[in-house]
Amino acid sequence: MPNSPPDALYQRILENLHSGVLLFDASMRLVYVNPAAEMLFAVSARRITGVAAGDLLSDPGLVSSLARALSSGHPFTERELVLRIGPERRFTVDLTALPLAEPDGRRELLVEMTQVDRQLRITREENLLAQSSAVRVLVRGLAHEIKNPLGGLRGAAQLLERELHEEELKEYTGIIISEADRLQSLVNRMLGPNALPQRRPVNIHHVVERVRQLLRVEAPVGVCFISDFDPSIPELLADQDQLIQAVLNLVRNAVEALGERGSITLRTRTLRQYTIGQTRHKLVARLDVIDNGPGIPAEVKEGIFLPMVTGRPEGTGLGLPIAQSLINQHGGLIECESRPGETVFTVLLPLAIGTPLETPKIGGAHAQQGRPGSKKR
Ligand SMILES: Nc1ncnc2c1ncn2[C@@H]1O[C@H](COP(=O)(O)OP(=O)(O)O)[C@@H](O)[C@H]1O
Ligand SMILES: [Mg+2]
Repeated sequence: MPNSPPDALYQRILENLHSGVLLFDASMRLVYVNPAAEMLFAVSARRITGVAAGDLLSDPGLVSSLARALSSGHPFTERELVLRIGPERRFTVDLTALPLAEPDGRRELLVEMTQVDRQLRITREENLLAQSSAVRVLVRGLAHEIKNPLGGLRGAAQLLERELHEEELKEYTGIIISEADRLQSLVNRMLGPNALPQRRPVNIHHVVERVRQLLRVEAPVGVCFISDFDPSIPELLADQDQLIQAVLNLVRNAVEALGERGSITLRTRTLRQYTIGQTRHKLVARLDVIDNGPGIPAEVKEGIFLPMVTGRPEGTGLGLPIAQSLINQHGGLIECESRPGETVFTVLLPLAIGTPLETPKIGGAHAQQGRPGSKKR
């Protein structure tokens, strides 16, 4: 028998461990799973004992790493590994695989996994929200500082142009004016959406369909769109135009990343009792924009939601910060996960009023509003 029953002490330890422990035999079938691992996989030990690793972990890359560890005898550790169980369940673990060689020649593989999702997700979201509001303050300040003298510069160049009689010299004032205009429009875009959302009941699928319609014209013929909608999502109370703009920025990036061919899946779901930043919401709408393109380049990945961070020669790096800011204004958040072959941008929008978990530390979603009196975009 590969799993000689642990004696009472070992059993007590294993059963009370916070980490999930799994033991596979030489043919990579599960021989033991502790209660923490049962909880993680949301199945009982009885149902999965004897199951092949390939069927339990629907991640061929991980399964082959485990098989390699078993045959080579080399242990490995992987951090922040995303495990998918079925189509909906997904969690992140730190995983260690330890090949065991018994004196009788038997080989087994001990796998230990600790779920890191919750801490990770909450820290990441807080960082995103804090980052996005800090950036907004900085960029607003900077943009206003540039904008005011720019008006004066342009006006002076216009006056000068009127005084000039030589066409050759007018060329120079023309350059000043057109460059001032270019800078002005850049600054306007940096200031981003400033109007407060005009909230009305909005069907998220109308938003997605509109974006699809707009991009169908732009996208190369080899790019196909797939809708995977949950028709039961209730209407949002939101500014439809702002949502369209935010989703458009995400889907347009996907189109650009794909180049000539690929697919973009637009998936909607609801999440119950979901926490965004510091606020727990009864019901949250989730929209995933998934593309099978090359993934976000490593050098821009960290700062993707910061303005001016771009991986494209003709990019402005403003699409994502603007989208994030628009969604934040609705109490929501955009998250991103990317690897070669799959990039997912997830828009989370509260459907039902949330209750703060504690006093918010950051002027995130609800707190920030436009500067009164100034019109942007
Ligand atoms: N779906 C995606 N796949 C790969 N890279 C992406 C994707 N979405 C965004 N990016 C990367 O993020 C960068 C920033 O995007 P964005 O803020 O919209 O600015 P811009 O599109 O002007 O570069 C892009 O230049 C690109 O490198
Ligand atoms: Mg863009």
